[in-house]
Amino acid sequence: MIHILVVSGSNRNGRQSIKAVDQIAEIINAQDGARAEILDLANFRLPPFDDGDQRSEEVKADIEIIRNQFQKCDGLVIVSPEYNGGMAGSLKNTLDYFRPEYSWKPFGAVSVSSGTLGGQNAMHQLVQFASYVNACLMPNRLLVSKVNEIGLQTEFAEVFDKNAQKFCTDMIRFTKAIVAAKV
Ligand SMILES: Cc1cc2nc3c(=O)[nH]c(=O)nc-3n(C[C@H](O)[C@H](O)[C@H](O)COP(=O)(O)O)c2cc1C
Repeated sequence: MIHILVVSGSNRNGRQSIKAVDQIAEIINAQDGARAEILDLANFRLPPFDDGDQRSEEVKADIEIIRNQFQKCDGLVIVSPEYNGGMAGSLKNTLDYFRPEYSWKPFGAVSVSSGTLGGQNAMHQLVQFASYVNACLMPNRLLVSKVNEIGLQTEFAEVFDKNAQKFCTDMIRFTKAIVAAKV
């Protein structure tokens, strides 16, 4: 059984990208041999990254929970909203607490926007991040446009369904290949 951790990168009340997170987890869980769990970073809210001396016990405990989830999953899907032409700052801040956990980890990148461009600027940053930390970036990336239309009978919702199915199938296949390679 392949375990995929789907990470939600928006802390905002009224956030829309959680719809994409939920759908991705649902699609993965509907497939044989794969299981998805959601890690909602809004439940943690780590402070701006520091060197560790001043961290409270609560923050240290939260870091360990996230570290454990990153380590035990076979693959990571990171879902970032696009904010001001990039990935969410709070998401990048949380990801910066970790490093060896990403090495050779299958990494699926998902960007989300309310407009029609699917958060392509956030996607560029996710891809750059994955490459820098030595993660195994899955070649198929998912850009989600008009996220507020997910679940409705619209052209954008249909495109999302099709692309999300392919993304999840490819992510499972890719993760299985990396796990089998025992790197
Ligand atoms: C502070 C802020 C900045 C944003 N900047 C952009 C942007 O640069 N490009 C874009 O396409 N959408 C932008 N959006 C819209 C988001 O893409 C939209 O809120 C989307 O639903 C994903 O974020 P959410 O999960 O927080 O809702 C911005 C939204 C916020 C709150």
